[in-house]
Amino acid sequence: MKVSLGADHGAFELKEAIKVHLEEQGIEFVDYGCFSKESVDYPKYAYLAANAVAKGECDFGIICCTTGLGVSMAANKVKGVRAAVCTNEMLAQMTRRHNNANVICMGQNVVSRELAFRMIDIFLSTEFEGGRHQRRVDLLTDIENGKELSV
Ligand code: RB5
Repeated sequence: MKVSLGADHGAFELKEAIKVHLEEQGIEFVDYGCFSKESVDYPKYAYLAANAVAKGECDFGIICCTTGLGVSMAANKVKGVRAAVCTNEMLAQMTRRHNNANVICMGQNVVSRELAFRMIDIFLSTEFEGGRHQRRVDLLTDIENGKELSV
Protein backbone atom coordinates (compact mmCIF):
# COMPACT_ATOMS: atom_id res chain seq x y z
CA MET A 1 0.00 0.00 0.00
CA LYS A 2 1.19 3.49 -0.86
CA VAL A 3 -0.33 6.66 0.63
CA SER A 4 -0.12 10.23 -0.63
CA LEU A 5 0.25 12.99 1.94
CA GLY A 6 -0.57 16.66 1.58
CA ALA A 7 -1.01 19.59 3.91
CA ASP A 8 -0.87 23.35 4.04
CA HIS A 9 1.01 25.36 6.66
CA GLY A 10 -1.93 24.98 9.04
CA ALA A 11 -1.31 21.25 9.29
CA PHE A 12 2.39 20.94 8.51
CA GLU A 13 3.13 19.64 12.00
CA LEU A 14 0.30 17.10 11.88
CA LYS A 15 1.54 15.84 8.50
CA GLU A 16 5.05 15.41 9.87
CA ALA A 17 3.67 13.45 12.83
CA ILE A 18 1.59 11.31 10.46
CA LYS A 19 4.76 10.49 8.50
CA VAL A 20 6.38 9.12 11.66
CA HIS A 21 3.22 7.12 12.42
CA LEU A 22 3.13 5.62 8.92
CA GLU A 23 6.83 4.78 9.11
CA GLU A 24 6.19 2.94 12.38
CA GLN A 25 3.45 0.96 10.62
CA GLY A 26 5.72 0.18 7.66
CA ILE A 27 3.37 2.00 5.28
CA GLU A 28 4.95 3.58 2.22
CA PHE A 29 4.04 7.20 1.50
CA VAL A 30 4.76 10.08 -0.85
CA ASP A 31 4.86 13.56 0.71
CA TYR A 32 3.49 16.21 -1.66
CA GLY A 33 4.18 19.04 0.79
CA CYS A 34 4.05 21.62 2.07
CA PHE A 35 7.52 21.46 3.55
CA SER A 36 7.51 24.21 6.19
CA LYS A 37 5.14 26.36 8.26
CA GLU A 38 5.41 29.20 5.74
CA SER A 39 1.99 30.28 4.51
CA VAL A 40 0.86 28.49 1.33
CA ASP A 41 -2.37 27.92 -0.60
CA TYR A 42 -4.04 24.66 0.45
CA PRO A 43 -5.68 23.81 -2.92
CA LYS A 44 -2.29 23.20 -4.54
CA TYR A 45 -1.17 20.62 -1.99
CA ALA A 46 -4.57 18.98 -1.79
CA TYR A 47 -4.59 18.71 -5.58
CA LEU A 48 -1.15 17.09 -5.77
CA ALA A 49 -1.93 14.48 -3.13
CA ALA A 50 -5.43 13.79 -4.47
CA ASN A 51 -4.24 13.60 -8.07
CA ALA A 52 -1.71 10.92 -7.12
CA VAL A 53 -4.64 8.80 -5.93
CA ALA A 54 -6.73 9.57 -9.01
CA LYS A 55 -3.84 8.56 -11.27
CA GLY A 56 -3.35 5.29 -9.37
CA GLU A 57 0.11 6.25 -8.15
CA CYS A 58 -1.11 5.95 -4.56
CA ASP A 59 -3.86 3.78 -3.09
CA PHE A 60 -5.11 6.32 -0.55
CA GLY A 61 -4.53 9.94 0.39
CA ILE A 62 -4.27 11.71 3.73
CA ILE A 63 -4.68 15.46 3.36
CA CYS A 64 -4.73 17.99 6.17
CA CYS A 65 -5.22 21.69 6.78
CA THR A 66 -6.26 23.73 9.80
CA THR A 67 -9.83 22.46 9.63
CA GLY A 68 -9.77 19.71 7.00
CA LEU A 69 -12.48 21.58 5.12
CA GLY A 70 -10.59 23.45 2.41
CA VAL A 71 -8.42 20.49 1.44
CA SER A 72 -11.48 18.24 1.20
CA MET A 73 -13.17 20.70 -1.15
CA ALA A 74 -10.08 20.84 -3.33
CA ALA A 75 -9.54 17.07 -3.31
CA ASN A 76 -13.14 16.40 -4.28
CA LYS A 77 -12.70 18.51 -7.43
CA VAL A 78 -10.27 15.88 -8.74
CA LYS A 79 -12.06 13.32 -10.87
CA GLY A 80 -12.05 9.90 -9.24
CA VAL A 81 -11.42 11.20 -5.75
CA ARG A 82 -13.84 10.65 -2.89
CA ALA A 83 -12.50 12.67 0.01
CA ALA A 84 -14.11 12.73 3.45
CA VAL A 85 -13.39 15.06 6.36
CA CYS A 86 -13.27 12.89 9.45
CA THR A 87 -13.44 13.95 13.07
CA ASN A 88 -13.88 10.61 14.82
CA GLU A 89 -13.21 6.90 14.38
CA MET A 90 -16.77 6.05 13.33
CA LEU A 91 -16.63 8.48 10.39
CA ALA A 92 -13.26 7.11 9.30
CA GLN A 93 -14.70 3.60 9.29
CA MET A 94 -18.06 4.41 7.68
CA THR A 95 -16.64 6.46 4.83
CA ARG A 96 -14.60 3.42 3.79
CA ARG A 97 -17.45 0.92 4.30
CA HIS A 98 -20.18 2.92 2.57
CA ASN A 99 -18.57 5.65 0.43
CA ASN A 100 -15.41 3.85 -0.66
CA ALA A 101 -13.55 7.04 0.22
CA ASN A 102 -10.02 7.07 -1.12
CA VAL A 103 -8.88 10.22 0.66
CA ILE A 104 -9.25 11.12 4.33
CA CYS A 105 -9.05 14.78 5.33
CA MET A 106 -8.62 16.19 8.81
CA GLY A 107 -7.84 19.42 10.61
CA GLN A 108 -4.83 20.00 12.82
CA ASN A 109 -6.91 22.33 14.99
CA VAL A 110 -9.79 19.85 15.15
CA VAL A 111 -8.34 16.46 16.06
CA SER A 112 -5.57 15.42 18.44
CA ARG A 113 -2.60 13.56 17.01
CA GLU A 114 -3.69 10.41 18.77
CA LEU A 115 -7.16 10.62 17.22
CA ALA A 116 -5.65 11.37 13.81
CA PHE A 117 -3.50 8.22 14.05
CA ARG A 118 -6.46 6.07 15.14
CA MET A 119 -8.62 7.40 12.28
CA ILE A 120 -5.83 6.74 9.78
CA ASP A 121 -5.33 3.17 11.04
CA ILE A 122 -9.06 2.50 10.72
CA PHE A 123 -9.37 4.21 7.33
CA LEU A 124 -6.48 2.26 5.81
CA SER A 125 -7.65 -1.11 7.12
CA THR A 126 -11.41 -0.96 6.49
CA GLU A 127 -12.84 -2.54 3.34
CA PHE A 128 -15.59 -1.10 1.16
CA GLU A 129 -18.78 -3.15 1.59
CA GLY A 130 -19.89 -2.94 -2.05
CA GLY A 131 -23.43 -4.23 -2.74
CA ARG A 132 -26.01 -1.44 -2.57
CA HIS A 133 -23.24 0.98 -1.67
CA GLN A 134 -21.54 0.32 -5.01
CA ARG A 135 -24.67 1.56 -6.79
CA ARG A 136 -24.54 4.78 -4.76
CA VAL A 137 -20.85 5.31 -5.33
CA ASP A 138 -21.49 4.77 -9.05
CA LEU A 139 -24.05 7.59 -8.85
CA LEU A 140 -21.36 9.85 -7.39
CA THR A 141 -19.28 9.04 -10.45
CA ASP A 142 -22.26 9.82 -12.68
CA ILE A 143 -22.52 13.28 -11.09
CA GLU A 144 -18.80 13.74 -11.59
CA ASN A 145 -19.25 12.91 -15.27
CA GLY A 146 -21.98 15.51 -15.67
CA LYS A 147 -24.88 13.08 -15.80
CA GLU A 148 -28.21 14.53 -14.69
CA LEU A 149 -29.72 12.34 -11.99
CA SER A 150 -33.40 11.90 -11.36
CA VAL A 151 -35.34 10.11 -8.64
C1 RB5 B 1 -5.30 28.45 6.40
O1 RB5 B 1 -5.29 29.60 7.13
C2 RB5 B 1 -6.65 27.76 6.52
O2 RB5 B 1 -7.60 28.51 5.84
C3 RB5 B 1 -6.56 26.37 5.94
O3 RB5 B 1 -5.60 25.64 6.66
C4 RB5 B 1 -7.81 25.54 5.94
O4 RB5 B 1 -8.30 25.32 7.22
C5 RB5 B 1 -8.86 25.93 5.00
O5 RB5 B 1 -9.93 25.35 4.92
